[in-house]
Amino acid sequence: MSIGFCSIVGSARPSGHYRAAETASGRTGVGGASRFGPPGTVWIVKPITLPGIEEYAEAHSTPAAPYLAAVADETRARFEDAEMLVGTLEGRFLELLVYLGRARTVLELGTFTGYSALSMASALPADGHIITCEVDQEHAATAQRHFDSSPFGDRIDLRVGPARDTIGTLSGPFDLVFIDADKESYVDYYEAALPLLSERGLIAADNTLWSGEVLGDGGSDSAVAMRAFNEHVRRDTRVVCVLLTVRDGVTLIRKA
Ligand SMILES: C[S@@+](CC[C@H](N)C(=O)[O-])C[C@H]1O[C@@H](n2cnc3c(N)ncnc32)[C@H](O)[C@@H]1O
Repeated sequence: MSIGFCSIVGSARPSGHYRAAETASGRTGVGGASRFGPPGTVWIVKPITLPGIEEYAEAHSTPAAPYLAAVADETRARFEDAEMLVGTLEGRFLELLVYLGRARTVLELGTFTGYSALSMASALPADGHIITCEVDQEHAATAQRHFDSSPFGDRIDLRVGPARDTIGTLSGPFDLVFIDADKESYVDYYEAALPLLSERGLIAADNTLWSGEVLGDGGSDSAVAMRAFNEHVRRDTRVVCVLLTVRDGVTLIRKA
């Protein structure tokens, strides 16, 4: 059995505690939860802030809309890896990024059950759209159902398949690219997304602190991958970046 670190969801998680959940041990192959660790992985969700801080921040942020609460409720009820949700705080943060950047075109890598896509879609103008990529059929089907029953379904284009393949078919430009799929591919996703950015476009990469595991030397494959990604971006003179300590770490990147 291996140990995986993942990020916290929000109010449902007791801050200052570890939470462990078995992933679906039978899942194999590309695209399921197994992309984030081998079958049988125990996810340890470790807040990176002081106890109570996440809850306080969430309690002092605008609550999630009912269609987002419905995604979170179903995900926690049905999916053992529900901690993959960006959750209330980061969802609101992503919505504000779309709003602040007046984004009209968004690309997301890693839909899961649709929480972040719906959060971003809610701030798009009526003629804006988001393309969101998901390889797992069950995740995609759940997300599509929630998109269809939300007020923003017509702005969301869900592409099922490996994100790298989908990016290869896109020409952009995108005002915002949110990277949140398999951590081992972050450098590839970043390199593929950078040429697709609009002039004032932004890349947001999730989980870049990986529960604080990036501070060490070794760790899980995902921790090693996140460390490599962070170094890759920091050394890249084509961009300007900031790694924010929002939730599990969110790096914002723009062209220099
Ligand atoms: C951390 S979750 C995304 C969470 C989502 N952004 C949210 O807020 O709910 C990562 C998702 O990426 C998907 N994924 C993993 N590898 C992928 C790949 N190669 N292509 C597309 N999606 C992938 C997983 O199936 C999973 O649903």
